[in-house]
Amino acid sequence: MVRFIHITDTHIAAAEDFMSYGHSPLANLQRLVATLNALPYPFDFVLHTGDVTEDGSAAAYRRAKNVLSELHAPIRYLAGNHDDALVMQRELLGVDAPLERYDYAFEAGGVQFVMLDSRGPVQPGGQLSTGQLAWLSEFCTPAGPPLVIALHHEPLPLDVPWLDAAPPASPESLDASEKPAMLLGNSGEFLEAIAGARGRLRGVFFGHIHRAFQVWRDGILFSSAPSSFGQLKTWPGLREAQPAPEEAPGYCLVTVDEHHTIVQQYTFSHAG
Ligand SMILES: [Fe+2]
Repeated sequence: MVRFIHITDTHIAAAEDFMSYGHSPLANLQRLVATLNALPYPFDFVLHTGDVTEDGSAAAYRRAKNVLSELHAPIRYLAGNHDDALVMQRELLGVDAPLERYDYAFEAGGVQFVMLDSRGPVQPGGQLSTGQLAWLSEFCTPAGPPLVIALHHEPLPLDVPWLDAAPPASPESLDASEKPAMLLGNSGEFLEAIAGARGRLRGVFFGHIHRAFQVWRDGILFSSAPSSFGQLKTWPGLREAQPAPEEAPGYCLVTVDEHHTIVQQYTFSHAG
């Protein structure tokens, strides 16, 4: 059994006074850390599904680290499209020889976690390489312990046009008139790679879209957490990204036990 807190899209910038969607990511991350430290129950770790920083700079990671190191729990990070995975590993995690793609796996409470670096070649979309899909497939066998997969980008359509457009495979094939596409570009290959583990896959967790979504597809749960500072509008037919400054920041508590995956979503009031 494992309990973790899913947080995402903290977007800390090098500049202390950086504002986004009408709010301060820094002040809200400070409030989130204080909120989590005051929770009246134990949890095993925090899962951050990426966009730790706004600009991928060393200064931004140092600023994020100052706040996140106050947390009374270990944190497992993913790189998002706003992150620089190399700088993130060096500055935030103190790694001397960082990986080009920040993929890794770990076990907690008898549950296998597989973490994927889904940053794509065309911003802000995602893409997994052939090598990453092969690595993922090794974990996605029918037999084995309960399995959880996490990545930054939404790995399937969500009935929202501005989220559901697939990015081109390379910058060269980008049409100047095309709107930025958010989706994991090769989501079909990803869904195929995980299908074999359906019987023991306890959830696919993601961020990127600044909104909590829960999707059930082919017997698999897909769940995103709200951003720690600002949400985006989503609804069927919406073609443009729009901030939703009136909506609260939040996080999710996830419990994976022998029989269930339980996701409880919480909000807290804006700090600034
Ligand atoms: Fe993102």
